[in-house]
Amino acid sequence: MPTPQIINKSRLYSGLILFTYVSIHLINHSLGLISVMAMQAMLDQIEHVWESIPGTVMLYGALLIHLLLALLALYRRRSLRMPAIEAAQLCLGFLIPFLLAQHIASIRLTYSLYDGDDTYRAELLRMYTLNPVRGWMQVVLLIAAWIHGTIGVNFSLKLRSWYGAAKPTLFAIAILLPVLALLGFWEGGREVDEMAMDPAVMAQMLAHHALSPDALAHLDRIRDGMRGTVAGLILVVLALRLLRRQWQRRRGTFRVTYPDGRRIEALIGTSVLEVSRMARIPHASVCGGRGRCSTCRIRVVAPAGALPEVSDEEMKVLHRVGAAPNVRLACQLRPLGHVSATPLLSPTLTVHEDLGSGGHMTGSEREIAILFADIRSFTELAETKLPYDVVFLLNRYFEEMGRAIEGAGGRVDKFIGDGIMALFGVESGAEAGCRAALAAAAAMSERLIHLNAMLAEDLPKPLKIGIGIHAGPAIVGEMGFGQTVSVTAIGDAVNTASRLESMTKEQGVQLIVSEEVARHAETNLDRFPAMAIMVRGRVQPLTIRCIPLGSDLVE
Ligand code: FES
Repeated sequence: MPTPQIINKSRLYSGLILFTYVSIHLINHSLGLISVMAMQAMLDQIEHVWESIPGTVMLYGALLIHLLLALLALYRRRSLRMPAIEAAQLCLGFLIPFLLAQHIASIRLTYSLYDGDDTYRAELLRMYTLNPVRGWMQVVLLIAAWIHGTIGVNFSLKLRSWYGAAKPTLFAIAILLPVLALLGFWEGGREVDEMAMDPAVMAQMLAHHALSPDALAHLDRIRDGMRGTVAGLILVVLALRLLRRQWQRRRGTFRVTYPDGRRIEALIGTSVLEVSRMARIPHASVCGGRGRCSTCRIRVVAPAGALPEVSDEEMKVLHRVGAAPNVRLACQLRPLGHVSATPLLSPTLTVHEDLGSGGHMTGSEREIAILFADIRSFTELAETKLPYDVVFLLNRYFEEMGRAIEGAGGRVDKFIGDGIMALFGVESGAEAGCRAALAAAAAMSERLIHLNAMLAEDLPKPLKIGIGIHAGPAIVGEMGFGQTVSVTAIGDAVNTASRLESMTKEQGVQLIVSEEVARHAETNLDRFPAMAIMVRGRVQPLTIRCIPLGSDLVE
């Protein structure tokens, strides 16, 4: 059985091939705004690709794969209740083969089986002048294929970080392209219609590769066969769903309890996201339940045996957002017993809000490294300077220190007056975080030397800083209000790091690091003097290392 990852990729790539084909088709139609000749000129170029053997295999292979995967997705859904956008995509997806059957039979097969005339002129004559109903069906096909494709592309692209910025442009293209194509089709049709007013021209056009009644009947049979096959496959899938439902009833039910106390019962085999949808409980699901976005994640409490194992694919997504062990993806979790589920993200969340947060919106306890830095005697210095100079000086200082922190892989949490708080290892864990924090301290020390040299003429004496680093468990989450919400950390470990920074002054050193940091970073700091201090939240004293300069860390 192909893994969900293979299925997702196959759906994506087959969809992209079809979407490319439709897009090129629309561009070709839009050339009707220039002339039928321009339409034909482009068609002459592109049909070499699509009518070649590799092009044919790629196009019809993608069509077949996409159809089979759509049937598989229909079978897999335990509930047909879904957001309107997913329902629209599903319905349009199944409408397309019925409309497409006519198009394939009357153009591709007319040409390949009977050497028929597949030029734009012939097709526009058939669709615009002789059989407008077919023309309208073609318009519906175009619109259905385009909307289906754009919804699919939107689903797959919206997880990309650049998508937010590109969305207005892509949206404009998504509207403009079909409108231009329809106008082009209309104009091209009018041009051919005018030509056909001349009976001689009309007779010539009709005579050109006219198909015999037998050939037409054959093509109609092929078209009906294609439609019948697709309808049959859909009916088989619906019948299989009914059979599965009977079988599921025998397996029993489970109950999901939501935070507001609602208890929803469902058949075993149903995912928690499907349960939410069946009960009309708003539940974020940006990727539409494909197990990619993680926005449906829930905190689950369940007795032993009620939760199936986490699949590798689900684990990867959970790992990416640093989820706690009791967090699962609602769209992938199909409980075997009663569970309590708490959706962790707002149902109105957009993917960029979630991706931007790095998955910390709900808060979690993590082992991280925290760095505090402060400029010594900055108040005295500020009193001797004009406000403009103070702002310039601080901004230069923040720039240098910010670069040192980010260059080492840390995250500047906030600037507090002339102080800086930075977090390390929020995503990568305490070991990598502590190594990065020590590297940042060394880089800050070196950048300060450089900054002092640059500002030598503006400063009465070189800037001095104190840095404190500690590692330990902290609550990491988005905190704040309105526009000032940001990811930050709180807890005793944060307070301890701040205290170490203030101790640098009394110890006359630039950097104080706790032994916890050295241990996590697996680095030996025995060459620096140690001392033991008492800190809140610990029974045992905390051993710290006093380091004259951050750059002394570089051996
Ligand atoms: S809805 Fe996207 S991962 Fe579950």
